[in-house]
Amino acid sequence: MSRPQRLLRLCASLHDQNSAQLQVKINNFLQEESGSKCVFLVPILAESEEVLVQVIMEKILPQEMRFPMSTSVLGMAITSSPITLTDLPEEKVSELSHLLGFDPESYLSVCIRHPESQSASLIVCLVNFPPTSQPDKLIDIAENCCLTLLGIILNTMSYEREKRLKMQCQSLLTVAKNLFTHLDNINELLREIMMEAQKLTNAERCSLFLLDHEHHQLVANVFDGYPTKGENEPLQEIRIAENQGIAGHVAMTGELLNIKDAYSHPLFYKGMDETTGFVTRNILCIPIKDEKRVVGVAQLCNKINGMQFTSSDEEIAVAFSIFCGISIMHSLMYKKVQDAQSRSKLSNELMMYHMKVSADELSRLAEAMVPSLDENFSSYYYVPRDIPVDNTPSIVLAMFEDLGLSQRWRIGQEVLAKFVLLVKRGYRDPPYHNWMHAFTVTHFAFLLLKNLKVVEQGHISELEALALIVSCLCHDLDHRGTTNSFQLTSNSVLAGLYSSEGSVMERHHLSQTMCILNTEGCNILQNLNEKEYEKVLELIREIILATDLAQHLRIVAKYCDLVSAGFDKTNETHRKLLLTLMMTCCDLSDQTKKWPVTKRIAVLVYQEFFSQGDLEKAMGNRPIEMMDREKACIPTLQLQFLDDIVLPTYNVLCSLFDEAKPLLEILKFNCACWKKALEIYTSRWPQGGASINILEDESLEKEVMDSLECDF
Ligand SMILES: *[C@@H]1O[C@H](CO)[C@@H](O)[C@H](O)[C@H]1NC(C)=O
Ligand SMILES: *[C@@H]1O[C@H](CO)[C@@H](O)[C@H](O)[C@H]1NC(C)=O
Ligand SMILES: [Zn+2]
Repeated sequence: MSRPQRLLRLCASLHDQNSAQLQVKINNFLQEESGSKCVFLVPILAESEEVLVQVIMEKILPQEMRFPMSTSVLGMAITSSPITLTDLPEEKVSELSHLLGFDPESYLSVCIRHPESQSASLIVCLVNFPPTSQPDKLIDIAENCCLTLLGIILNTMSYEREKRLKMQCQSLLTVAKNLFTHLDNINELLREIMMEAQKLTNAERCSLFLLDHEHHQLVANVFDGYPTKGENEPLQEIRIAENQGIAGHVAMTGELLNIKDAYSHPLFYKGMDETTGFVTRNILCIPIKDEKRVVGVAQLCNKINGMQFTSSDEEIAVAFSIFCGISIMHSLMYKKVQDAQSRSKLSNELMMYHMKVSADELSRLAEAMVPSLDENFSSYYYVPRDIPVDNTPSIVLAMFEDLGLSQRWRIGQEVLAKFVLLVKRGYRDPPYHNWMHAFTVTHFAFLLLKNLKVVEQGHISELEALALIVSCLCHDLDHRGTTNSFQLTSNSVLAGLYSSEGSVMERHHLSQTMCILNTEGCNILQNLNEKEYEKVLELIREIILATDLAQHLRIVAKYCDLVSAGFDKTNETHRKLLLTLMMTCCDLSDQTKKWPVTKRIAVLVYQEFFSQGDLEKAMGNRPIEMMDREKACIPTLQLQFLDDIVLPTYNVLCSLFDEAKPLLEILKFNCACWKKALEIYTSRWPQGGASINILEDESLEKEVMDSLECDF
């Protein structure tokens, strides 16, 4: 058989889809043709600038070997083909001996270029051929054979590469699945990420850093995490500056770094190797990003069975890091949500603990007969503050009953009892903003609903009436006897929570309300349907936020529009305005009681104001006049308050409802009383001062009342 025939036969036998098997056959052929003892092929990987050795003669290497194209002995043929033993300097000869496992007696390597692109594709190496062989003949054999077979060899290799990519894709999907099952435990997730990264890129070690943006540090909780490390060993946290070393560089630039020789890299820190005894050869360092920024860095060390990480390692690492970024972000978010949930649960529990209602008290209220209301209970002149505080919860139950709320909204007595007792507990004990304030405000809402017949006449709906009553009960929950501006100047916790939205205290009252409604067995709204439930919460929110007088002053013009345009029952905006107007009237209703009662309550209000003033003085601030016990003139302040806020508000109410007119009469009478009181004040105490004591002086009250005709 001639050589072309033998070559044809070889071609026919190359049906393997495995490049190593292919090379064995070609090596055998070239051995016979050239008489060489040893033959091997060296594919050139232009992309990674490497040359590859997979097979030497018939021996398929357990791990393929890669050498740099530019510096290795094998790569020399690329720039000057052919190369013989005499062309090699001494150290290259020993490199070759090392590779072969014996000292070569003769050597020829020929570079095969692609016939079209002329790119170097394959090197053929012949070793220990007969001393009589002519070099030209050997070159001819090598070129002849390999040019013929080049297409087959390259195709087989690219087929293998495709197959590997497909497998990598599949393993990436598996990785993704694994990662997303560990979202609930960030350390477990990071450990998983490192193991997978190591497996995918065939790295000896992997370290993973998360970026602590707040402290500008890189943090590794699991460092060089060997998969064999005990699962339950305590983790040691390592922190480095966010711009330090290779990981820092990658964190800062967000760009991948593939370092072929760690020790010659200016950013490499040898200290770690010196302390651990580990020798770092090469590093692949990849940024892990979420949607916006770098969240971490994965650092892979020492490519196993390879001189460096390849570009396909880079590709897979980048793909992998995208999954890592998403899963880390979700894991951190998950943790945040959990933390927030447990914090709110904790504070709820804490609050409920302090507000615990005794089982005894609860069962007494839940099981007792709901009392009937006093015959004058619905009168504007009724003074709810005269009811002993211990009786107030059952009176609240009676109001719900009387208004038909319990029946209409299917509120069981036990739930209502628990709700009311918890609300009562939710009030602190400042002089004015305590449970009795909430109770009297609720009573006034009852008065308005009864006397103005707003529900019966369709001005507001039954649901809106429910929202109003619940809001009245809850509208000052957990009041600390200090104002919104005090929260801000004293930098209170509440200000920290709510100052950006304004109405700091009101937002807190609302949040306490929700907290109580969400407490087991307290949700009096539980039998409402979904739409009603949503609606009533929205109303409660609006009504409670409207108790901020600053908010009231902002919408006072709208009340006037309401009067001039005429109230439209079908207009949602009108009904909401009416509700907040009613709420404000309720909140100010102490002013509508007979003067001695009003005066008694004013004392409470000013006690509260003055103790805030005292606090402000202690903090080195100057309180406003109203809160300064040495400067405030109570009758003057009361007259201002009546003129600026109370009268305009009740005027609107009376313009809308004739039935409210008696309230205006009392207010006018009280104005006259305060004017008289002011007269007596200034005549008796021209220097002013100590105005609370004056107010509590019985002779003052008698003198005021005697001087004025009171016909109610
Ligand atoms: C109710 O009011 C009327 C008139 O002011 C009074 O005569 C009566 O005693 C009051 N009833 C009660 C129980 O206080
Ligand atoms: C409701 O009243 C407001 C304020 O008066 C007005 O601007 C709006 O057009 C009214 N809406 C309807 C549906 O009549
Ligand atoms: Zn209030």
